[in-house]
Amino acid sequence: MFSHIDYHWIKPSFNFVDIFCIAIVLVAFRWTYGVLVSCYQLFRYIAFDDIVKDFSTPERSERWKGQDFGSFPNGWIPVSESQFLEKGSVQNVQVCGQEIVLVRKLNGEVQAMDAYCPHYGANMSKGKVIRIRGEDCLRCPFHDWSFRTDDGVCVDVPYAKNRKPPEGVKIRVWKCIEIHNFIYVWHHSRGKEPTWFPNRIPEIDSGDWVYHGRSEHTVNCVLEDIPANGPDSAHLNIVHSRSVLCGGVLDENCNPLLNILHHRWEAAWEKCEPPMDHTAISWLEGVTTCFGFDLVYLSIKALQIGPTSVNLLFKSSAFGMEIKGAYIQGINPIGLNKHKIVHQLYLQRRLLSPFMSRFLLLGEAVMLERDIEIWNNKIYLKSPILVKEEKQIAQFRRFFSQFFDHERKVVDVRPDDW
Ligand code: FES
Ligand SMILES: [Fe+2]
Repeated sequence: MFSHIDYHWIKPSFNFVDIFCIAIVLVAFRWTYGVLVSCYQLFRYIAFDDIVKDFSTPERSERWKGQDFGSFPNGWIPVSESQFLEKGSVQNVQVCGQEIVLVRKLNGEVQAMDAYCPHYGANMSKGKVIRIRGEDCLRCPFHDWSFRTDDGVCVDVPYAKNRKPPEGVKIRVWKCIEIHNFIYVWHHSRGKEPTWFPNRIPEIDSGDWVYHGRSEHTVNCVLEDIPANGPDSAHLNIVHSRSVLCGGVLDENCNPLLNILHHRWEAAWEKCEPPMDHTAISWLEGVTTCFGFDLVYLSIKALQIGPTSVNLLFKSSAFGMEIKGAYIQGINPIGLNKHKIVHQLYLQRRLLSPFMSRFLLLGEAVMLERDIEIWNNKIYLKSPILVKEEKQIAQFRRFFSQFFDHERKVVDVRPDDW
């Protein structure tokens, strides 16, 4: 009965132009979807999220165990931050493969001591800060023995005769300082005293630059790979050239609508002379371009201080506006080849600084995550094959070996004038 129906009208009859138009619509949809997802992620980050990411795995942490470049550095190690330690509180932290506790005394000073009680091995981080005879003490949570925070000496055993502790009982106390919201302890594998201290930033001391947040990344690599980022200028225009909007994954398939920005870098590195030979300086000039036009300029002077700290001062300008500030980088080698990298951001007092700080923290985290993808998966070569244009890497490796106790056997195949 339907034989009179002409089905001809529903037959597909696409021509080349139709297919082309559909393809354009699909590609445009895909790009737009990518942009919307990125905008949402950016909004979510700006509105709510802190950047705290752990890229480490137990397998990666173990992979170089027992090899001579896997030891811990000597120097001031940033183990925590001021905001995590209130007056009268105790914090358990790891540093260079050891457990320690940080104690904020009732007068606000910070002390650091071994985490485990010499009486019966309890972890002191659950202990209490109390005052005995006018001195701050840390009371162990297990049997209430109390240890003076200034020198670790046991001063009270509540159930002993006259409350008198056995002779000579004490907890090891670590040298500790607090600068610009970082809490540092001095680590030296042969017990040597500090010969230098972390540098202060005058603009932060004066209150001109104020704290605007932090990022935290946990990574697996040889410690040297992280500060080697400064002298390794060749990687900058490869790893860090794609638009920051493309994110922290080293993926060629960046959405073309997001990839309209491009970053161009020039860098130099130099170690400092005695008595500042525990420091080195990186200079970095960056330009963000859009369709070939220069938009944003970034000037960086980064002071590497010892093995695990960097004061990175920057000046950024765009459309006639300029802002200055600093990232302070602190790396805590919490275990062999496992490090916690913290960046704290300080900015000039400006109306827009709270808003800009979110983009600056995100931009820095994105660039760092590209490095992390390389670091987390690379091996450590004692004698990499360098060309003369990379002589700064060879100089850096010699500089960095001073922070390790044993001879790290940096194999020099380069001529002396490098
Ligand atoms: S284990 Fe600390 S008081 Fe006993
Ligand atoms: Fe890098």
